[in-house]
Amino acid sequence: MQIVNAVRPIKPVTNGVTKPFIILCDDGNTYYTKFQQNPEGPRVLANEYVCAKIAHQLKLPLASPTLINVDKDFLNLYEQIIADHIECEREIHPGVHFGTKRINKTFPIANAKMLERALNVTIVPEIILFDQLIRNNDRDCNGGNLLFDQSQMKIVVIDHSHVFEIGALWDAQQLDIRIGADFQPFTQNGYIFRKLVPHVRGYNPFDNIIGKMSGMTDRDLWHIIKTIPEEWLITDADKIALHAYLCDRLHRIKDALPILKPILPQWKGGG
Ligand SMILES: Nc1ncnc2c1ncn2[C@@H]1O[C@H](COP(=O)(O)OP(=O)(O)O)[C@@H](O)[C@H]1O
Ligand SMILES: [Mg+2]
Repeated sequence: MQIVNAVRPIKPVTNGVTKPFIILCDDGNTYYTKFQQNPEGPRVLANEYVCAKIAHQLKLPLASPTLINVDKDFLNLYEQIIADHIECEREIHPGVHFGTKRINKTFPIANAKMLERALNVTIVPEIILFDQLIRNNDRDCNGGNLLFDQSQMKIVVIDHSHVFEIGALWDAQQLDIRIGADFQPFTQNGYIFRKLVPHVRGYNPFDNIIGKMSGMTDRDLWHIIKTIPEEWLITDADKIALHAYLCDRLHRIKDALPILKPILPQWKGGG
């Protein structure tokens, strides 16, 4: 994952529970940055990192996930501004945080027309199965986590903070008890899910993503998990449990299909 250095804060983001801050970085771009000291805790960054790497391998449309390095000079000047926004009591230490490159002309998916205009609308079934893999329940009802990039005319996925069913609250014990758990359908009346439903249609809409997921190995997942930045304090035991949890879901991903079938009426048959 690319890494850039923070230069100066631009603007706080007011519509996210993790209180991102838009930061100008030394490559000239601005990044929606989640800090280790965000209100939900540092594990949010590990969630974002792991899911962005998985999504990248599956070739899903992301907003350039990036590590944002914050040094002492930046903190001397701007720590207070950041701390006031994220309401953290802890000091912000120099080190890496997680960001996505700002998409300038973007809108939350607000209506069905937006999806119809997206050049990559066939990615919808892939996003649905990806969300099953990582157990993300923060997209079916939340328009803020599926964006329409107007300059590219395409759908982009962001925000993988609230994944693995329990978001930032996971640890080895919590994940161990979830290994082998049944897949769960999305909220059928979810504000976003309702708009995605018509785009899962015909025969074998999940073929592509199933093919890509079959190409992903346990070793690939371990490589992703073992490279979580040390300073985000994920213990080895937690990393091993996360690996076991994700491998279990990946191996069983086809079991999600019969769970999804009843809520996707335009899907005629096949995978
Ligand atoms: N890369 C990005 N480009 C444009 N807008 C973004 C980007 N990342 C986040 N946003 C906007 O900021 C909001 C909050 O970010 P998000 O990652 O969803 O945080 P939270 O986990 O707190 O919900 C999003 O709903 C979206 O409107
Ligand atoms: Mg969000």
